[in-house]
Amino acid sequence: MFRSEGSDLVKGSMLAFTTEALLDFAGERSGKFRMIACEVVSHDAYGTPRDLFIAFFGVIADTLRELLGTQWTDDIDAAWQELLAEIEQFVSRQAAT
Ligand code: HEM
Repeated sequence: MFRSEGSDLVKGSMLAFTTEALLDFAGERSGKFRMIACEVVSHDAYGTPRDLFIAFFGVIADTLRELLGTQWTDDIDAAWQELLAEIEQFVSRQAAT
């Protein structure tokens, strides 16, 4: 479901943009986090369900947990859970606008 007519480059840039937006959302919120709100709307048009769009952030967290292994601490886990819940709220607010 990650591409309709693009290439691997589209998938790669989607992950890169998501990472940048995520870091900005978790940190300064200087601007790049706004991409999440823009893309949730454009992804409606791609036919990407909003639940799946949000799930993508959780997949990133799960992948990092796997990669970090024992270095993944309870604090890191709690911070990610908080972040994922905030993103979910942020995306659901877009539905009301
Ligand atoms: C499971 C979740 C997602 C799916 C299934 C998905 C799917 C897609 C699809 C089908 C396209 C069109 C590509 C093409 O025509 O080849 C696309 C483009 C794009 N996606 Fe995603 N996407 C997901 C999550 C995200 C997230 C979380 C972000 C960023 C916050 C993102 C950012 C983009 C960007 C920047 C494009 C390029 C076109 C545009 O600006 O809309 N995607 N995605």
